[in-house]
Amino acid sequence: MLNFHEYLKYLKKNKVFGMMTEDELQALLLCVMNHDVDGDIVEIGAWAGLSTILLAMGETLSRLHRRVITIDHFKGSLEHQAMLKGKSTYSMFMRNISLCKVKDKIKVLQMDSQEAHKLLDQQISILFLDGSHMYPHVKKELKYYPEKVKKNGLILIHDYEPQWQTKIAVDEWIQENEEYEKVVLINTLLIVRKK
Ligand SMILES: C[S@@+](CC[C@H](N)C(=O)[O-])C[C@H]1O[C@@H](n2cnc3c(N)ncnc32)[C@H](O)[C@@H]1O
Repeated sequence: MLNFHEYLKYLKKNKVFGMMTEDELQALLLCVMNHDVDGDIVEIGAWAGLSTILLAMGETLSRLHRRVITIDHFKGSLEHQAMLKGKSTYSMFMRNISLCKVKDKIKVLQMDSQEAHKLLDQQISILFLDGSHMYPHVKKELKYYPEKVKKNGLILIHDYEPQWQTKIAVDEWIQENEEYEKVVLINTLLIVRKK
């Protein structure tokens, strides 16, 4: 049995840091664990791997045997680039997924999300968007990725709040596309279902 809060403590102690709150990480895990649509789990925006690890854990607990595919150029988003000073987060990501023993479950596409969608099949079970927060980037991701999500699949969007341009792009997309419905907001994690 997984003790979720003990597991988060273990990750913190081992310097596996991420950008989501405990509530959001818990929601991520439970969504993946309880969702019953077969297909791929696709993440945009891995950073150091914390969210990727939770997706892989949730998948293991679900027993559906879905692939977890993560897309990141590992150069950081605009808001991280001053801190990273040109360094990549790839080695930290690889260290963390190895430490948590989920490396074998994860396929990494180290590239820009604007290119990676061309490599994906039309069979996404859960799409998790947490890459760039810039309006034109999110707009393009919403153009190419949700069309690959299966009926009853989920689209999870992090940083859905007025501070980020993500919210503007997502609200426009929902208004223009009747097949998607907002289900629940947990802190800044928006869960959308494809009808
Ligand atoms: C907010 S962080 C992800 C945090 C991670 N989901 C977590 O909770 O631990 C955003 C990540 O998206 C990546 N990113 C930003 N724009 C991207 C793009 N256009 N294509 C691929 N990756 C991108 C950055 O390199 C960064 O690692």
